[in-house]
Amino acid sequence: MPVQLVTPSDNSPEPEIDPPRPPHPGPPQPGEPPGTPDPMIDPPPSNPVVPPPAPVEPRDQLKVPVLADSSLSVISNPYGFIGETCRKHQTPLFETRLLLSKSVCMLGADAAQMFYDETRITRKGATPGRVQKVLFGKGGVQGLDDAAHKHRKAMFVELLSPTEVERLVAACERIWPAYRERCKTTERVVLYDEVCELLCQAACDWAAVPLKADEVQQRTRELVAMFQFAGSMGPKYWWARWMRNRGNAWIKGIIRQIRAGELQVPHNSPAYVVAQHRDLNGKLLCEHDAAIELINLLRPIVAIAVFIVFTAHALHEHPECRDRVANNDEYREWFVQEVRRLYPFFPFTSGIVRKNFTWRGYEFKEGRRVLLDLYGTNRDPSIWDNAEAFRPERFASGDNSPFGFIPQGGGDARVTHRCPGEGATIEIMKWAVANLVKDLNYRVPPQDLKLEMTKLPALPQDRFVIECRSS
Ligand code: HEM
Repeated sequence: MPVQLVTPSDNSPEPEIDPPRPPHPGPPQPGEPPGTPDPMIDPPPSNPVVPPPAPVEPRDQLKVPVLADSSLSVISNPYGFIGETCRKHQTPLFETRLLLSKSVCMLGADAAQMFYDETRITRKGATPGRVQKVLFGKGGVQGLDDAAHKHRKAMFVELLSPTEVERLVAACERIWPAYRERCKTTERVVLYDEVCELLCQAACDWAAVPLKADEVQQRTRELVAMFQFAGSMGPKYWWARWMRNRGNAWIKGIIRQIRAGELQVPHNSPAYVVAQHRDLNGKLLCEHDAAIELINLLRPIVAIAVFIVFTAHALHEHPECRDRVANNDEYREWFVQEVRRLYPFFPFTSGIVRKNFTWRGYEFKEGRRVLLDLYGTNRDPSIWDNAEAFRPERFASGDNSPFGFIPQGGGDARVTHRCPGEGATIEIMKWAVANLVKDLNYRVPPQDLKLEMTKLPALPQDRFVIECRSS
């Protein structure tokens, strides 16, 4: 049955919509029996005696709203636009145009599960070129598919194993005393700036990238510009492009020296492993691509500063959590997870339809851009009880859905494009929040703490200023 396309306008009545679907059970959780397969997602059974897939249920016949060009709405409301539109039309997906090209916007665990099916959605060409050039650079793992992706991804997963994460946290711990002293002797400290610098030093130390004391500020600026201004317009964007070029040149030099034997680093260090990585054909990555991948480790470690500022913000907004964060290791992890769930970092991720297919009765056309709402899925009331409330205890059960809790992407990180750095992010956040509550005696002076929801990421206006007391 063809899908009815509805174009809402201010004067037209609200489109007729199917009643809301019951939430999809999602993939089975550890220890949970497998649920009913979803005929639109699960592959058909290979055993011929298994009955054929159940007939398509009425719930699969969505009336998909079609909106006019939404580019300005996305720019003015990057975190809320998809979620608000889906809620308004009671749909998990809608069609629109972004910069004139037809696109599909989606939200929810079912949509995420479909999005991470690589036979349907490719990443090649998915990120707009101008963003890609600053944020990831060209030639990195983010734009690979299939076997080439899995091969490159295995390197990241190995480099971010629990043992490596321990080494990274230990590097933070070594650098922390100098920053603690600086905080205590400086009247007003901009937490974000300090943490970015600390993490830049820790990341380089961990990765075996040499960094002299007088280089720290400049290298921090380069790495921060890549994630903070990739989506900016005008001079800020061009400055970020310049910072990216400088960063690339710096790390290309490191790769060149390691390969030439001029820089001796441990053979199990990230810098060495990336410099010596070979593709599926046994060829060394070109210098540029190797630099992009080493930066793919350094840049996001510095970006954890954003989440650390969010944890400080959450502690300030929810002082009742403070004692438990300080004294209960388990609760500290739930707190960090709730910050990752609710605070606005990446609004969505994008892909391109690989070949025509139909999902929930809607035809996904080859070449069409698809946006998956990460921020909105983390707040989806069909997944989360009292979704907007800050309640760390919700993580007590420990069984996080791989497609319903997706601040850093979904699925299995070894297979999909899900972030391989989640373990590192969580452990560094836990380490940082423990230091905030146990090792620093600070007050939060009057300042603008509102999150800048039109910026990516949406940091508080004043970057979280603290004043430390000496005791
Ligand atoms: C600061 C907190 C972080 C956030 C919010 C974050 C978020 C994300 C997101 C949303 C994706 C894309 C998921 C997708 O498109 O399906 C991603 C991918 C990636 N992240 Fe992270 N990430 C963070 C930290 C890290 C860390 C600490 C590392 C490594 C040290 C890292 C390395 C990567 C890499 C290499 C990819 C590409 C994976 C692929 O394409 O297969 N990230 N991250």
